[in-house]
Amino acid sequence: MAKRTLITSALPYANGPIHLGHLAGAYLPSDLYTRYLRLKNADVIHICGSDEHGVPITIAAEKEGISPQQVVDKFHTRNKDAFEKFGIDFDYYGRTSSETHKKTSQEIFLKLHKQGIFKKKTEEQLYDEDADMFLPDRYVKGTCPKCGHPEAYGDQCEKCGSSLSPTELIDPISSITGNKPIQKKTEHWYLPLGDFQERLEQWIDSRKGWKPNVTGQCKSWLNSGLTDRAVTRDLTWGVPVPLPEAEGKVLYVWFDAPIGYISATKEWAVKTGNPDLWKTYWQDDETELINFIGKDNIVFHCIMFPATLMQHGDYVLPTNVPANEFLNLEGRKLSTSKGWAVWLEEYLEEFEPDLLRYVLGTTLPETKDSDFSWNDFQARVNGELADILGNFVFRTTSFTQRFFDGSVPTPKNLDANDTKTLAAIDDQKKRISKAYDGFRFREAIAETMNLARIGNRYFTETEPWKTRKSEPQKCANTLYVCTQICGALSLLFEPVLPQKMYKLREQMGIPHTASWQQITKNLVPAGHIVAEQAILFEKIEDDVVEREIQKLKKKSEAAAAPEHSFPPIKEETTFDDFMALDLRAGKVLKAEKVEKSNKLLQITVDVGIDKRTILSGIAEYFSPDDIIGQSVCVVANLAPKKMMGIESNGMILMSEDSDGSLHFVSTDAEPGSPIT
Ligand code: MF3
Ligand code: ZN
Repeated sequence: MAKRTLITSALPYANGPIHLGHLAGAYLPSDLYTRYLRLKNADVIHICGSDEHGVPITIAAEKEGISPQQVVDKFHTRNKDAFEKFGIDFDYYGRTSSETHKKTSQEIFLKLHKQGIFKKKTEEQLYDEDADMFLPDRYVKGTCPKCGHPEAYGDQCEKCGSSLSPTELIDPISSITGNKPIQKKTEHWYLPLGDFQERLEQWIDSRKGWKPNVTGQCKSWLNSGLTDRAVTRDLTWGVPVPLPEAEGKVLYVWFDAPIGYISATKEWAVKTGNPDLWKTYWQDDETELINFIGKDNIVFHCIMFPATLMQHGDYVLPTNVPANEFLNLEGRKLSTSKGWAVWLEEYLEEFEPDLLRYVLGTTLPETKDSDFSWNDFQARVNGELADILGNFVFRTTSFTQRFFDGSVPTPKNLDANDTKTLAAIDDQKKRISKAYDGFRFREAIAETMNLARIGNRYFTETEPWKTRKSEPQKCANTLYVCTQICGALSLLFEPVLPQKMYKLREQMGIPHTASWQQITKNLVPAGHIVAEQAILFEKIEDDVVEREIQKLKKKSEAAAAPEHSFPPIKEETTFDDFMALDLRAGKVLKAEKVEKSNKLLQITVDVGIDKRTILSGIAEYFSPDDIIGQSVCVVANLAPKKMMGIESNGMILMSEDSDGSLHFVSTDAEPGSPIT
């Protein structure tokens, strides 16, 4: 076992909430690994935090009309809370807008600068003269030179998928002011990754136990040759470049974000009361640094950040970067902008954390993309958690309570099947351990569930309900063996099901400080009284998952609907035509449904001069009782019209929302007042 392990999880951008894709990519695997190591009493810390810089944050701020700081404050707190509720066991959740982070990033940049490592280059970039700023690629829109799509972004056309540079766009405009940007010279600092090519190749070749998907991606970057990467940007939001000649420039978000792991560890150390403790984790060669990330982060964690750290010289480099592939949702690519996502906060309102931890854990995209579906969620909760694990624990504990007064029986003269089954505890423990050590968490979880399966099968085979009378000692042996399996499971399943296994340990009388080393075939002593407990897992009904599927569909439909689906403005009309209309304030006196019509209400309106009948097609939106007393605007000189045998004298003005809902146009004026 490593002397100490520093586990990091990719710092999520604080411009939106956490969804299932995030969890499956980085946070659940990192948490499983951390909990496994903690169970082994290893020296381990788990560090994460909010990535609070970068253009997506400023775009979110602009969209909502608030400051970037307000955006990150909001999501930092929300995400931190959601992770906590989900049982993600971070030692520290930092944020890159902190002072410690600013200092740490600037110190690292400056050291590299003093070593003369950066190349300074002048280039032409698009500039918005009115906004007085250089435009990040995402802030430039225009026509795609490849497919003609009129709304392509400066970095990418979302219609044809081409990656673009903003200067390629036809008729570019600034999305800040709508102006045509000009080209202006600007200076930036570049990390010449090409100079690191050989060192990086050697370093990656020397890494052991890396996942093929990760090494593969690194190799493909290295084979196509590394080039210079700008580490500064013309922006106001970010860590200021600590050089007098770099006013108005900040560090590129992918330069500062990974440094967030270091700054968060520093803040953690201060919190523990030993401010220097971070150095043990970052500067002692015996640390194993494990970065958990999703596959879109590989190049930054395996090429760019290692190059930065190599050059700096004071820090350890990652031992492993077990990046995961992507999680799909109901067979479709997860997309937050298309509303095709399940948010963690939303999930936690309906279900317990452990259910999702288990189901996602069994479907982690470890070697290829995988899929989450609500039906699979239900099937695994019902068929595995409830029917296998929950059922096994319930059979064992309830039988012990009913027939042994809750006291774990004393074993005697165990037969071959008993001994074999007890030995499975150690066998499974070894298998599980090996899988965790190799970052194969799906396998670890499957092997853990297999122990419950073994227990269940054994319970059925030994038929204690029969031996209870015929061979009481045999029955006692069965329950002893099953109790030991329950005890072992309460620890072996702890990384996956922390809340449920906490309860199970209470029931089994196993201290929560018990460690992996203590998992043996006789963990629960004979004579221990098994406490009563509610069943561990309730089954999920069909209508519950159906509701979740419908919710998802609604969200994606809402996202697909254009923001304003209002009809275009009608053709021009004349002032005189407008003045020819007689509009009056009115009040609804009476309303009733028109027989045989779903749409029409017959409404009596007081329009001051007279009280008249008007038919209005609003019956699907308003019930007659709701609108009595409603103040309205009426077209009072409209020619009468007969519908369903009733004459309508005028029209009540309504406005229609983009979602089709109707609203009265009302006025405070007394009935009869002309509207002009
Ligand atoms: N914010 C990035 C993302 O969500 C991850 C940053 S990881 C770090 O893709 F190492 F840079 F912090
Ligand atoms: Zn295009």
